[in-house]
Amino acid sequence: MLNQIINLNSLRETDRIAKLISKYLFKGSIIMLWGKMGSGKTTFTKSLCSGFGVNPEKVTSPTYTLVNIYPGNLYIFHVDLFRLNSSKELEDFDRSDLINDNGITIIEWPKLLLSFLSDEPVLNLNIETLSNKARRLNMESSSKKFDTLFMSLKQENFSKPNTDILSNTTF
Ligand SMILES: Nc1ncnc2c1ncn2[C@@H]1O[C@H](COP(=O)(O)OP(=O)(O)OP(=O)(O)O)[C@@H](O)[C@H]1O
Ligand SMILES: [Mg+2]
Repeated sequence: MLNQIINLNSLRETDRIAKLISKYLFKGSIIMLWGKMGSGKTTFTKSLCSGFGVNPEKVTSPTYTLVNIYPGNLYIFHVDLFRLNSSKELEDFDRSDLINDNGITIIEWPKLLLSFLSDEPVLNLNIETLSNKARRLNMESSSKKFDTLFMSLKQENFSKPNTDILSNTTF
């Protein structure tokens, strides 16, 4: 299990980190975006998609459609399960409607999708709101396929998170 905490002190930093992360994603990557309303999951997704050549303005929250598909260098499925109340509402969907094994899958409010997954490479990103402009990104994965991402991030010189005020992150 690898993890990393990165401070996102501005929209610009969020954009930079998301684009950096996008470079380490691969066919079949599943990015689960955790965090409260307004923490920045869609904002982060725009920059991830931009890293794949998708116009970020075309990336909008698929809250009512459940999934948007963006053709970039890879096909990106952008899923948002906020409006679902129970996994029963997913019964009309096949796994392949929501998860793109041949491209990238990004999921906001992913909890109900966990039952669709077994050993896929999942990258968990939990965004915490610290202030109007500042967020803290908690990254975690138990898939070895993200080892290079975590190794590279450890080399980067990020603004250091204040570990005194670290909360217990629940994914
Ligand atoms: N450092 C930052 N990183 C990301 N977003 C930020 C940052 N600072 C301010 N923001 C703002 O926070 C808001 C995040 O909204 P966004 O729609 O991305 O949240 P969300 O997590 O997708 O919400 P929801 O759960 O409703 O889908 C945006 O208005 C964005 O401009
Ligand atoms: Mg959103």
